[in-house]
Amino acid sequence: MSSKQPSTIYLEDYQPPAWLVTHTELRFELEEDQTLVRAQLSIQSNPAVSDRRKPLELLGDAGMELCRLSIDGQVLDAADYQREAGCLRIANVPESFVLECVTRLLPHENTALEGLYKSDGMFCTQCEAEGFRRITFFPDRPDVMSIFRTTLVADKQRYPVLLSNGNPVDSGEDDEGRHWVTWDDPWPKPSYLFALVAGDLALLEDQYTTASGREVALRIYAERKDLDKLDYAMQALKDAMRWDEDVYGREYDLDIYMIVAVDFFNMGAMENKGLNIFNTSCVLAHPQTTTDQGFQRVEGVVAHEYFHNWSGNRVTCRDWFQLSLKEGFTVFRDAEFSADMNSRTVKRIEDVTLLRTAQFAEDGGPMAHPVRPESYMEISNFYTLTVYEKGAEVVRMLHTLLGPELFRQGSDLYFERHDGQAVTTDDFVAAMETVSGRDLSQFKRWYSQAGTPRLQVSDSFDAATGCYQLKVRQSCPPSPGQEHKQPYHLPLAVGLLAEDGRELFAGLLELTEEEQVFRFDNISERPVPSLLRGFSAPVKLDYDYTDAQLLMLLRHDTDGFNRWDAGQRLCIRLLQTQIRNHQQGVALSCSSELIEAWRNLLQDASLDPAMLAQCLRLPSEAQLSELAEQIDVSAIHEAREFMRTTLAQVLEQEWLQVYQRCDTGETYSTDAEAMGRRSLKNLALAYLMATGREPWLELARQQYSQSDNMTDQLAALSLVAHSDFRETADELLQAFYLQWQHESLVMNQWLSVQASDPSAGALARVNQLAEHPIFDARNPNKLRALIGGFCGQNPMHFHAEDGSGYAWLADWILRLDRQNPQVAARLLTPLTRWKRHEPVRSALMQGQLQRMMDTAELSADVYEVVSKSLM
Ligand code: PHE
Ligand code: ZN
Repeated sequence: MSSKQPSTIYLEDYQPPAWLVTHTELRFELEEDQTLVRAQLSIQSNPAVSDRRKPLELLGDAGMELCRLSIDGQVLDAADYQREAGCLRIANVPESFVLECVTRLLPHENTALEGLYKSDGMFCTQCEAEGFRRITFFPDRPDVMSIFRTTLVADKQRYPVLLSNGNPVDSGEDDEGRHWVTWDDPWPKPSYLFALVAGDLALLEDQYTTASGREVALRIYAERKDLDKLDYAMQALKDAMRWDEDVYGREYDLDIYMIVAVDFFNMGAMENKGLNIFNTSCVLAHPQTTTDQGFQRVEGVVAHEYFHNWSGNRVTCRDWFQLSLKEGFTVFRDAEFSADMNSRTVKRIEDVTLLRTAQFAEDGGPMAHPVRPESYMEISNFYTLTVYEKGAEVVRMLHTLLGPELFRQGSDLYFERHDGQAVTTDDFVAAMETVSGRDLSQFKRWYSQAGTPRLQVSDSFDAATGCYQLKVRQSCPPSPGQEHKQPYHLPLAVGLLAEDGRELFAGLLELTEEEQVFRFDNISERPVPSLLRGFSAPVKLDYDYTDAQLLMLLRHDTDGFNRWDAGQRLCIRLLQTQIRNHQQGVALSCSSELIEAWRNLLQDASLDPAMLAQCLRLPSEAQLSELAEQIDVSAIHEAREFMRTTLAQVLEQEWLQVYQRCDTGETYSTDAEAMGRRSLKNLALAYLMATGREPWLELARQQYSQSDNMTDQLAALSLVAHSDFRETADELLQAFYLQWQHESLVMNQWLSVQASDPSAGALARVNQLAEHPIFDARNPNKLRALIGGFCGQNPMHFHAEDGSGYAWLADWILRLDRQNPQVAARLLTPLTRWKRHEPVRSALMQGQLQRMMDTAELSADVYEVVSKSLM
C-alpha cells in the first residue's frame, strides 16, 4: 500500500481567504546550480472575513528550502513559525505587514516541470494550478490577487533575455557579467498567472493597434533555430485580437504581449498575464515541418491563450472547482474563432468526434466528474475533457438557448460585473439569467451532474390530421457518487424533412422534463426527423432510423453536421453488425447500399472536399469501443479493417479519381480549401493503400518524395510504414529520420508513426525506440509520442492478449511517477477503462492497476487515478 494517502479537497469546504496579499515583489537570482528567490509580500487581513485572529498560513512545497523569513524587517527564528507538509504557519501577526521570505530552488533538478525549471537551457515557470508554491511561500489560491513586481538577475551572456509579466520598468548590469531587469504588472492577478523566462532567445516582433488605439508590441520568442517557424502564430495572434474585439468587444490591456516557445512543457500552453508560455508543438509552424492539423492546432491554441486574457485573467476562478468557468468558456470562444477562420461544419465535426470518443469515455469511466467537480485529491487530474470540452458544450448550449445577441449581452455583463474578481460558474450563469430574464436553475445541473445523458426519441404521424409528434425521453446513467440524476434543460435543434429532402420544419425545442411530447401541425407527409442538429447538446441520441432514412439524410439534410452524422450512424450500425458477426464466427459482409452511397459521394465533384473527407472516414476503433456494451478489441479491429478494405477494393477506381482530382500540384497554402483538398487526397491514398496493391505503394512513395509539405509527406510515410511492404517502410522511415533528425517536433511524429504501427513486433519496436538517442524520457512531448502513441493509437498491441502492453505501460508509469507525476497520471488513462473490456483483458488491466496500488510512495496524481479506477 502507498504509505500516505493524499487528502481530498471538497468544494463545500470553501472558505474565503483570511489574508490578502496586495503587492508581491520578487527577486530571482538565477544561477547554474541554484536560484535564490526573495519575496516581499504586503499582507493584510481580509476585511470580509470576521475571524481576524487566524494564524497566517502560507503554502509552500515540502521540498522547498526556506533560507530566511522576516516580518516588517524582524527576522523570525524557527520557534516563531511551524512548517509541516506543504504549509507554513505563523501565529500572532499584525493586521497588516510585510513578510519577506528567501527560498533556494534547484531548477535544473526540477523534472516535474512545475514551478521554476529549465527547458533546453532556458529558465521558465509553470504555475497553474499549484506551481507557485514551489517558488515561494504564498497563499497560492486563485482568489488571492496581487500586484506583482519582479526582478530577474542572471548572467548576461547566457541569458540575454529576461522576461516576466507586464512591462519592463528598470534594468542594469554589474561588473561581473550579470544583468537584471525589473518587470511591473499593473493588473492584480492570482499567483497561478505569474511567469518568468530567462534565456538566449530569438524574437519575432510585430504590432497591433487595438480598436481604441492602444499600440501593442507583439513578441514571440523561440530558440534561434526556430525563428522561421513563428509567422503563422503571429498572424493567428493578430486575427484572435481582432476577433475578440469584433465578437466580444474585448480589447487587450497591456502594451506588450509575449509568447515564449519551450520544448519541455506538460500541457499545450499557458495564459500567464502578458507572457504566455507555449509548448513548441502549439506555436511553431512551418509548411515543411508542420501538418495541416498542426497549423490548425497552433491557430486554435494561440487564440485560446489570448482569449484567456479576459476569460480567465481579468475575471478568474474563485477556486479550482470553478476551472471550467475559464476553460469551458475559453474553449467555446476558440472553437467559434476557428469556425469563423476556417470551415464551421468541419470544425464542429472534429470537436464532436473528440467529445464522443474521449469525453464520453471519461464520463462513463471511473474518473467521471461533473463539469464543476465536487472534490479532488490532485487538481492536475482535473484538466480534463469534461472540464474543457464538455464545459465548452455547456456554454454553447447557453449560447443556443439565449441566441447570439442575448448571449453577448450576458458576456458583457459578466465581464463588467466581475472585472478584477475571482468568481464561480454560478456567477457566469447569473449574468446570462439577468440579461435574458430566464430561470436557468435547472440548466445548472449541467455543471453539477456527471455522465452523458441519453435521449430516446420516437415519433408518430397522423396522415388524416397532418399531425406529427416527437416523443423525447431523457435519462442519465449513474456515475461515481451520483446514483440518480435529475432531468436536464437542453436545446434540441430539429428539422423535419420530406422524402425528397424538402424541409418541412426547422427549429429549436427545449427539453426540461424526463419525458416530453412535441406536436407539429400541418405536416403534409410523414417526415424524417433530423435530430440534434449541429450537435445542439452533448448527449447520446437514439432514434430508430431505417437505413433508407439515413441515406436520405446523408444526401439531403440542410444541416451539414447532421448530413455527416447520418452517414456515421449508418456506418456505426453496419460495423456493429460485423463486430457481432465476427464474435459469432459468421462471415463478414459489407452492405451494397453503403457502397453505392459512397460511390455517389465519390463521383460528385461538386461536394466540398473537406466535408467529403469527413463523410468517408469510418468511425475510429476508439469510438466503436466507447459505443460497445463490452469492448472486444479484436472484433472491433477485424470488423473495421474488413469494412475498410472492402470499401477500398470495390471503389478502387473512384478513390484513384478522387486522388487525382485533389492532386492539383498547387503550392502549399493553409487556407481551408487547400487543407480540405489535402485531407481528401490523403484519405483516398489511405484507401488505395488499403487494397494492398503495389501500384499504390509506388504512388505513396512518389508522394513521399515529391511533396513540398509535411502534411503530404507524413501521410505517405505513415501509410507505407503501417503497410505490409516492410522493406519500403524501413527505407522511408530511415530516410525521414535522416532528413528530420534535427527537428524535435518532426521526430515526435516519427516516433508516433512507429508506435502506432499495427504490424507484428510492435512492443519490441517501441522498446527499441525508447533507447534511441532522439528519445528523451524527461520530455513530455516525446513521452506522449511514444507511450501515448502505443497505448492510444495501437489498440491491437497495447491490448495484446498476454498482457504485455499493460505491463509495459505500468512499468513506465512507475518510473515516470518519480520524475513527472502529472504526465504519469495522464498516460495512465487507457488502463483506467478496464471494467469496459471483456473478462480476460479486463483482469489483466486490473492486475496492473493493483500492482501500482501496491507500490509504496505513489504521487498524489497517480494515486488518485489508480485508486479511483480500482473502486
Ligand atoms: N490553462 C492552460 C490552458 O488551458 C492549461 C494548463 C493547465 C497549462 C495547467 C499548464 C498547466 O490554456
Ligand atoms: Zn485554457
